[in-house]
Amino acid sequence: MAKDVFTQHRPQWKTHIGFLLAAIGSAVGLGNIWRFPYLCYKNGGGAFLVPYFIALLVVGIPLMILEIGLGHKMRGSAPASIAVISRKWEWAGWWQVILGMFGILLYYSVVISWCLNYFFFAFNGQWGSDPNTFFFKQFLMVSEGPFEIGDLRTPILLGLMLVWFFNWLIVFVGVQKGLERANKIFMPLLMVLTALIVFWGISLPGASEGIKLYLKPQFNRLSDIRVWMDAFSQIFFSLSLGFGVILAYASYLPKKSQIVRDAVIISFVNCLFSVFAGFGVFSVLGYMAHNTGQPISEVVTESIGLAFVVYPKAISMLPAFSREFGLMFFAILVIAGLSSGISILEGITSAIIDKFHYSRKVVVSALSIIGFLGGIIFTTRAGILWLDIVDHFVTNYGIIIAAILECIIIGWIFKAKKLRDHINHFSSWNLNKCWWDISVKVIAPVILGGLLISTILEEIARPYGGYTRLALLVIGRDWIVLTVFMAILVSASAWKVEPKHRIIEH
Ligand code: PHE
Repeated sequence: MAKDVFTQHRPQWKTHIGFLLAAIGSAVGLGNIWRFPYLCYKNGGGAFLVPYFIALLVVGIPLMILEIGLGHKMRGSAPASIAVISRKWEWAGWWQVILGMFGILLYYSVVISWCLNYFFFAFNGQWGSDPNTFFFKQFLMVSEGPFEIGDLRTPILLGLMLVWFFNWLIVFVGVQKGLERANKIFMPLLMVLTALIVFWGISLPGASEGIKLYLKPQFNRLSDIRVWMDAFSQIFFSLSLGFGVILAYASYLPKKSQIVRDAVIISFVNCLFSVFAGFGVFSVLGYMAHNTGQPISEVVTESIGLAFVVYPKAISMLPAFSREFGLMFFAILVIAGLSSGISILEGITSAIIDKFHYSRKVVVSALSIIGFLGGIIFTTRAGILWLDIVDHFVTNYGIIIAAILECIIIGWIFKAKKLRDHINHFSSWNLNKCWWDISVKVIAPVILGGLLISTILEEIARPYGGYTRLALLVIGRDWIVLTVFMAILVSASAWKVEPKHRIIEH
């Protein structure tokens, strides 16, 4: 029997529920609350649930099982786990965690900072009677174009500092005392607050109109490829797959673990949370349409506008307790955001510790300073434009390519069967060869590959978001290219302890 790494020193979750809550905390984030309901509305209402749940079953759950299984088997972060399989491909693991840190967390923390600011604005409804002008002109002071950076927005910068302080604090303290404890507080709070908002929302007059619009299926929209692209990329982003985050969390599991069952629980709770939160969002929109006499389609805007423009407006109109409603809504966003943010920070922290054996405290402190400094670009007057472009490239190209690589490395190079044997050994729900192996080796990479090609073609035909091609290339594409370079660079340096010593047999 090879050396059993389970006996080596590595942090471990104190309780099983602690792991589940942390993984759900990572998955449930800003993306569930404002991105999902809007995507659903835009892409055919209830009909969007069809591609969404197909994406969940066909690639979401198989890859969730893969990431939990691999983290459990290798007891390592993404690069450490992949390096065991093939040193040549180690960069792909680094790319995942670097993409998470520099492609998502930098701007994600800025959006949490907006939410934090809005939490304080909610005390006295500071957005006034015209939340649109307030958000874009007074709060963000958006500049004319992405290359007109302008000044820093101090309130956003201060919020960002606070967000990074929390990120730092929780991850610095460690797995049990930091991540596990924080999520044990955050998650129940998040669920209770969300339930309150949803039940409150559906009791408002006009709510049923909003819900009808949210769920009314328009099946003809399913022939549009963009609807499918949105469903697949949303599943990835929402389940935190492809960033080495779930992998890191799973590497802290004890030997006796229920890999398949946990993967199914985490995935379903996340997606049901999205659908549930949508009821709250759309009830309030229905109420607003009812109140203003405007048709409801006019009160719905794109995702960012939904949370920071339409929602504040609706909150101001509430008949009673509007301040409490506003406070709760933005508290939900802050909590959901923080619990996802810390998971990304943990993903890259564990990767650096695995390779270089630096102390957690040093790694987290350095990353938090870099993360804060790197996020400053998104707090400028061009911040929202940069954020929009980087988000588009990372979620539509970055994660998809990282996930395809993951499928190839694990499915073909390592062999899906070997990982399936490991997973089945530890799970009472056994994986079926036909379904899982074929999903990982063929179905997922082929679908993702097809999606990637259609996204590229679509992009060439119609540059995203009406930006100039130059802006998209310099800010979006180059951002991705830079992360690849960083990944290759880090993977070229030497390991403190050769990764193959981690191999585990059962
Ligand atoms: N899943 C989170 C959300 O939906 C975002 C996230 C992405 C978290 C990637 C971790 C890794 O908001």
